[in-house]
Amino acid sequence: MWRFDWTEAMSVAIEELDEDHKRSVRIMNLIGAAASAADFSNAEKMRDALAIDLAQHFRREERILARYGYPRLKTHILGHRAANDELQKFAQVIKTRNVIAILGALDDLRLFFVERLIIDDIDYKWFFLDRRIVPEFSDEPAVESPALDSRD
Ligand SMILES: [Fe+2]
Ligand SMILES: [Fe+2]
Repeated sequence: MWRFDWTEAMSVAIEELDEDHKRSVRIMNLIGAAASAADFSNAEKMRDALAIDLAQHFRREERILARYGYPRLKTHILGHRAANDELQKFAQVIKTRNVIAILGALDDLRLFFVERLIIDDIDYKWFFLDRRIVPEFSDEPAVESPALDSRD
């Protein structure tokens, strides 16, 4: 069974954004479960849900980083764009309806998530911690996830 576990090492020390990241991990696990069961239409649906979910996350992360003057925002945005490209490529692999290929590509996506996105995010973790800034989310729109309901 394909599995991806969020760990404390991935924490950015900002609860709202950690919750976003945990949600992405949960959706990836749903993709893994669907692909393992050769349920390709569900795998596709979950991939689309992940794309929507991440788009909302990227927007709110970029707004927060801009608001507090994070100096490496441009590079950070490029990482988000690269993630969108990875998700597009992944959509093509799902279309092959080949379980081994899909799970392999999902492994690559997990690696990208951990080695690129989270490492980029850990950089802003220190930006906020060093300045003792606790970012404010009260005027941020809530993220609505099409893949998960409140019981997940
Ligand atoms: Fe990010
Ligand atoms: Fe992030």
